[in-house]
Amino acid sequence: MLIFGVESSCDETSCAVLSVEEENGGRVFSLRSNIVASQVETHRLFGGVVPEIASRAHAEVISKVARDALSEAGIGPHDIDAVAVTSYPGLIGCLLVGTSFAKGLSSSLGVPLVPVNHIEAHAAAAYLCEYDLSAPFGALVVSGSHTSLYDVPRETSFIPVGGSRDDAAGEAFDKVGRIIGLPYPAGRAMDELAVRAAEQGADEDVPLPSPAIPGDNLDFSFSGLKTAALNYVNTKRQSMKLKEGDPLPEKTVLAVAASFTNAVCSGISKKLSLFLKSRNYDKLVLAGGVAANSHLRRSADAVCRKYGVRLIAPPVSLCGDNAAMVAAAGYYALKEGLIADSAMNAYASEEAAEKAMKECGFKPLH
Ligand code: KG4
Ligand code: ZN
Repeated sequence: MLIFGVESSCDETSCAVLSVEEENGGRVFSLRSNIVASQVETHRLFGGVVPEIASRAHAEVISKVARDALSEAGIGPHDIDAVAVTSYPGLIGCLLVGTSFAKGLSSSLGVPLVPVNHIEAHAAAAYLCEYDLSAPFGALVVSGSHTSLYDVPRETSFIPVGGSRDDAAGEAFDKVGRIIGLPYPAGRAMDELAVRAAEQGADEDVPLPSPAIPGDNLDFSFSGLKTAALNYVNTKRQSMKLKEGDPLPEKTVLAVAASFTNAVCSGISKKLSLFLKSRNYDKLVLAGGVAANSHLRRSADAVCRKYGVRLIAPPVSLCGDNAAMVAAAGYYALKEGLIADSAMNAYASEEAAEKAMKECGFKPLH
């Protein structure tokens, strides 16, 4: 079976072809193509994603991205057996480009249309690197818009058990990066600076609060951490009499990147420990754009080892937004008959999507 995936929830337009063979009650995924057209250079000029520009850019490239995905997979459109598309959550204008394209494609080919939750799709990237991964497992999705823990009793059932009460970790990485002079998106550069700081030994102490909310909950707050980093940098600038636009000293840049990364990783590790301690999972999936962070991968691995849990994190190339993960999530939804018709809509938030789906009786919540 060949599943065509479509992703356009934020600033990456992506289409993929995933081949699925079912054998002995299991499945074998083989990724035939995964084309990603990034708009990052465009949004960098504005210091973040501009929704209207993003939607237009998706509309401009989606047909070409789809054609490239087919041609790299060596297939024609009529070989496709199903179309899976991110329909929520995300920027509404962006989602509408992908869902409209997917609707048109599925109805012209007469194949099923499968709506996919973007956050669940991030976790589904793990199936592409782990041959025998199946539910139940725990999942930690850390992205530009989410920092969430889930119980996953079935591949199509993600039960949120904790997460950020305000900003997401990725958003905080980008904001703090911006404060110290890095271009958008700053996550990867922050990662590299924290590596350099560890090698060189940062000698500047940056006191930052933990993003782990005190208590037995599994929740985070990243806004206080972000503000503390901003205050530290502003005070530093004043004490050094730096003018607007003057760069910070390199040792301050390294120290802020390292201390911030450390605060994020130890806060997440704290709640991950609590999560794993209270469950009996033997597998934890770590996914989302921020799962590419080398420090987070190492600290999550250390926590998992402590509880005898196998950490499954997709390769860095599949952590960011891509359509391969959407096709993988779509396979499991298709198996359960979670198919949409031409009335399928796009939703900016999970709450809006769940409300609408409940009303039309489409998808059982959990
Ligand atoms: O999952 P994603 O591609 O988009 C959303 O669904 O939000 O995540 C993007 C986020 C950005 O905030 C980016 O800075 C961050 O992932 N990111 C990283 C790293 N690579 C990407 N953050 C920390 N370390 C990295 N290596
Ligand atoms: Zn994403």
